[in-house]
Parts: sequence; structure tokens; C-alpha cells
Amino acid sequence: MPDFSDTLVDRLAGADAVAVLTGAGISAESGIPTFRDPDGLWEKFDPQELANVEAFLDNPELVQGWYRHRRQLVEEAEPNAGHRALAELEAHVSELSVITQNVDDLHNRAGSGTVIELHGNITRNYCMDCDRPAEPETVDAAIQDGRPARCPECDGLIRPDVVWFGEMLPPDAVERADAATSRADVFLSVGTSAVVYPAAQFPVEARAGGAYVAEINPDTTGITDEVDESIRAPAGEALPALRDAVSARTTG
Ligand code: OAD
Repeated sequence: MPDFSDTLVDRLAGADAVAVLTGAGISAESGIPTFRDPDGLWEKFDPQELANVEAFLDNPELVQGWYRHRRQLVEEAEPNAGHRALAELEAHVSELSVITQNVDDLHNRAGSGTVIELHGNITRNYCMDCDRPAEPETVDAAIQDGRPARCPECDGLIRPDVVWFGEMLPPDAVERADAATSRADVFLSVGTSAVVYPAAQFPVEARAGGAYVAEINPDTTGITDEVDESIRAPAGEALPALRDAVSARTTG
């Protein structure tokens, strides 16, 4: 049984607004490697070397193929007990916003109502030139034919809708994450090493604004010294237990 305080359960049960920052660790139990883990076939590639616009322009087919491989991994994966518990926690609090660094779409698939995608979503693609969305099948067909995927409308290169190194985060997502952070009475930081900014600053800002902040992570993180409480357990165990405890408090 994961260990968390009565204070956390009370604060969640009484909260007007809850915000949850998630990272790769929440999807680890769905079989999706965390960001820095080796990735089978592609482990010889360093994400930092492929996930940038220069690498893409240099070798679009390679980068499109790598993202297609990663998209297929997430499409084959299923949301786990942690994703589902977060979606279900919504029934017990007035407002719950999920701010995610993940691009895997699993919070949406688990049924979370408000998902703020800071780093984009790998299931979407768009044309670099005309910005039109592109169907994944367009990418798949091109890769299978051994040519770069191009926009059927303007022939521009198609890229995944993810934030690459050196790129700005989507401003509307940052604005929504800021607003959710400042409204939050309770802030949970789940499955993130909390070393990448601006994501890592949200829990710290929430606490400065008076929120009760807890992290859920088997290991220490970049913000361990700055949270009220650390739950040292996998998200797939801690979040269902927390959901049950809050549910018992709000309905009992
Ligand atoms: P990381 O790979 O840096 O960290 C994953 C965290 O998950 C670690 O702290 C693990 O201890 C923890 N973890 C592992 N299994 C877990 C489990 N079952 N339950 C809970 N926690 C678990 O991933 P992120 O913090 O998401 O950005 O990385 C942030 C960003 O770094 C990524 O979004 C990516 C990368 O640069 C972009 O691509 C823009």
C-alpha cells in the first residue's frame, strides 16, 4: 500500500482546483520507455540528435521513420491504472487539470477531461509549410515507399506535432498550464524527473501560491526538496490508492 498522508487526502477532498503535472514515468507501466531509456531498434539514435529541426531537414525520412516507430508504440499501448485513476479522480474534485509533458495521448484515451499538452502529441502530424494537419497514413505510405512524407496539398514536408529541442512550447498550452497552476489548491507531480523547464517550475510556483504539493515517483527528482510530500511508489499503484482514499472521504 503506497504511503501518503491524511493531509493530502483531506486537501484533495476539499480542493476547488487540482493540477497534475505528468511525465514519462506515468506511461512506463503501459510499456512506453521513459524519455532517456533505450528504445529497442532505435537505441543507437540519441533523441537529442533526432528531435530537432536541423536533423529533420537534413534527413526527413529518418526522423519521420523514428517518429512513426514511436507513434506505433503508443498506439499499441493502453492507458494504465495510473492514467485511469487520474481520470476517475475528476469525479471527486471540482476541477482537475492534467498538464502533461508526454506526447503519447494516453491521458486523453483514459478519459481525462482537461489535458494540457506542453510538448505536443505524437499521434498528430502537420505540414511544415502550410500547417495543414496530415493523416498518419500519408506518413506510413511514404515511409513504406522509402521516400519522405510530403503534404498532399502543397508538397511541404510533414512533421510530427511535437516540440523539438530548440523550439518554443505551444503558447496556449503554457498559458493554460500557468492558469491551472495558479488556481490549484493541490498540485501533484507524477512520473517526471522534473528537470526540464518550464514544466518543472509549475509545482514550485503552485507551492509558492499556497498549494499543497506532492510528488509521486519511485525516485527522488529535481524538486524533491521543494514539495510537501513525496510518495515513493509507481504511479500505477499510488494514484488508484489515492483515488480510493479521496473517494472514501468525499462519499463516506
Ligand atoms: P524522464 O525520463 O526524465 O523521467 C521519468 C521519471 O519517471 C523518472 O523520475 C523516474 O523515476 C520516474 N518513473 C519511472 N517509472 C515510474 C512509475 N512507474 N511511476 C512513477 N514514476 C516513474 O521523463 P520526463 O520527466 O517526462 O521533452 O522528461 C521530461 C522531458 O524531457 C520530456 O517530455 C522530453 C525530455 O526532454 C521533450 O521532448 C520536449
